[in-house]
Amino acid sequence: MLLDGAIVIMAYLLGSFSSAVVICRLMQLPDPRTLGSGNPGATNVLRHGGKKAAILTLLFDTLKGVIAVLFAKLLTDNVNVISLATLAVFLGHLYPIFFGFRGGKGVATALGALLALIWPVGLMALATWLLIAFGLGYSSLAALTAALLTPIYVFFISDIWQYVLMSGVMSLLLIWRHRSNIRNLIAGKETKIGRK
Ligand code: G3P
Repeated sequence: MLLDGAIVIMAYLLGSFSSAVVICRLMQLPDPRTLGSGNPGATNVLRHGGKKAAILTLLFDTLKGVIAVLFAKLLTDNVNVISLATLAVFLGHLYPIFFGFRGGKGVATALGALLALIWPVGLMALATWLLIAFGLGYSSLAALTAALLTPIYVFFISDIWQYVLMSGVMSLLLIWRHRSNIRNLIAGKETKIGRK
């Protein structure tokens, strides 16, 4: 029981590490929370910090999702705990304790967590993102489409209902965090990938 709690808390703390803010600080780039969409994520870092910082942000945000879930799977077989750890690393990214609870939108971290949880689902979510991102040029639309489809992928690939439920909750939160992007997409004002 104590270990279960520790696994979930560790996942949340790991998620709270804001790669975008730390990388931009280390590279002496502007704080992504003060520019563009204000989102501490790879898309916004690409707009104002360049490709190298964006790739590093993407890498570390994905990696923390992978590590938290692999760590949970290594330490327990309890699917409730693994589901909670998956949700916790995502929530850490959205509401980081180290950054005044003002975090990102969770796309890369959710991807990493899914890859570690059920890798075929992670790959399908990634393929969905890539298809829309490169087809239409909008990172947010790609994330929203992947978020809508991911619980369906989980439903068909996994027979663990806790994973289906958890992926549904994660998708709802991710969509909620993209509400300004949804408004911009509807108004035709959303910025395409790489544009300022
Ligand atoms: O990863 C977040 C992305 O979906 C949207 O980012 O900066 O355009 O709001 P941004």
